[in-house]
Amino acid sequence: MAQIEIRDLGIDYRKPKSTEVFSAVDSVALSVEKGEFVTIVGSSGCGKSTLLMAVAGLVGLARGSIEIDGKRVDGPGPDRAVVFQEASLLPWRSVRGNVKFGLEMQRWSGGDLNERAMQMIRLVGLGRFSDYHPHQLSGGMRQRVNIARALAVDPEVLLMDEPFGALDAQTREIMGTELLRIWERAKKTALFVTHDIDEAIFLADKIVVMGRNPGHIKEVIKVDLPRPRNEAILDSDDFHELRKRLRAHLAEDMSSMQLVQEVA
Ligand SMILES: Nc1ncnc2c1ncn2[C@@H]1O[C@H](COP(=O)(O)OP(=O)(O)OP(=O)(O)O)[C@@H](O)[C@H]1O
Ligand SMILES: [Mg+2]
Repeated sequence: MAQIEIRDLGIDYRKPKSTEVFSAVDSVALSVEKGEFVTIVGSSGCGKSTLLMAVAGLVGLARGSIEIDGKRVDGPGPDRAVVFQEASLLPWRSVRGNVKFGLEMQRWSGGDLNERAMQMIRLVGLGRFSDYHPHQLSGGMRQRVNIARALAVDPEVLLMDEPFGALDAQTREIMGTELLRIWERAKKTALFVTHDIDEAIFLADKIVVMGRNPGHIKEVIKVDLPRPRNEAILDSDDFHELRKRLRAHLAEDMSSMQLVQEVA
């Protein structure tokens, strides 16, 4: 059985200042195996964040179901951790204090707590910075702390919504490689939303391509590139092929978006 099983999922939102609802995501079905790295791409507003937040248990479902390890999702839980686009760190706590925060919520204490926090901080390569405060770190470092905090509680599933979206292209590439290194050690199931086509391919075992109105899955593309991966893979023929395929998908969506705007 797959670890995450999404069946016939539908999510409705209320329109602003109105009682009218609209369907943000509809008829989504997806299976994710344990330890699999799945990236989600699609044009802005197609429902990527909505889908991720539904798996996190942070938005209610109108139709269908989400199961994790056979258990129905009906709210947030310790089996899932979320990393958002903006690093959401507590400014008054140090790196170590921030990583400890999530653990304290789960009733870790004393030496265990400290040891676990430091282990995670070292895993993301910030061992020397554990006493720094968020404002003393770069954006990339702050996102590493966020990832350390998410991993510390040992979730089954790691949910990431454009975690590197605010970083420059070069830092982003480094973070991608870094994330794969951590993931290969931690062996977590990962759902990762991104706008960046190369990032989507580089990280993934499979890529979920979403379309809009309402948000749905257009295609699931399997990525058979060998692991462990490094930047050299960006120049391979297989990579070029996948990039072309994804670009075509997204271009198709953009043209349908323009059409909607012209009609409106
Ligand atoms: N809380 C909400 N209430 C009402 N509508 C919402 C809410 N959150 C999102 N939406 C709408 O649902 C649709 C999907 O939004 P969502 O944020 O999931 O898209 P997305 O694919 O993550 O976009 P982006 O790539 O820009 O982050 C959009 O039309 C958006 O306006
Ligand atoms: Mg989003």
